[in-house]
Amino acid sequence: MKIHAKDDFPVAGVRRFLEPGPIVLVSSAWKGERNIMTMGWHMIMEFQPSLIGCYIWSENHSFDMVRKSKACVVNIPTVDLAAKVVGIGNTSGRDIDKFAAFGLTAQPAAKVDAPLIGECYASFECRLVDASLIRKYSLFVLEVVKAHAARSPKYPRTIHYRGEGVFMLSGANTSRYRKLFKPQML
Ligand SMILES: Cc1cc2nc3c(=O)[nH]c(=O)nc-3n(C[C@H](O)[C@H](O)[C@H](O)COP(=O)(O)O)c2cc1C
Repeated sequence: MKIHAKDDFPVAGVRRFLEPGPIVLVSSAWKGERNIMTMGWHMIMEFQPSLIGCYIWSENHSFDMVRKSKACVVNIPTVDLAAKVVGIGNTSGRDIDKFAAFGLTAQPAAKVDAPLIGECYASFECRLVDASLIRKYSLFVLEVVKAHAARSPKYPRTIHYRGEGVFMLSGANTSRYRKLFKPQML
């Protein structure tokens, strides 16, 4: 197998290789206001309870909306929403109502005040369960308390940010290596 010759790489740039989970839209509500932000920096921390860690920059309007309401919805957009995803990331809820500006449908959630985004393939209602790392790392630990997902397709065409304005589109799947997995790792 090929050994890759590697150059020095700037440490601040490694995000380009590690980031590509799906880009999500985080919706929130606080004191009669609603908002949406685009997010790439998130990770699974546990599956039972279902915990997600995510980074929200303190300058974002969403920062206080999620921190104060202690809730949000993590919505999964597909490639047809890519232009809106970028537009939502370029603007702030301080200045505009992004649901209206981007023609998105706010739907009531079951367990939190934040709205679901109707046009997204899946929406996960979340409660902020640990705020202890927000001050130091802007890291919000969320628990998914209710999940909604479209029935098909099984593998939606999600978008994954590679930095420098480039999205990777989710594509081919293979089950070729499935037999190599320990059953408990599936
Ligand atoms: C592809 C993409 C990924 C982004 N990922 C994050 C992220 O993980 N965390 C974050 O705080 N901001 C992220 N942003 C920036 C926010 O979406 C942006 O600052 C947004 O305008 C904040 O909106 P708000 O002020 O209404 O909360 C991202 C933007 C783009 C376009």
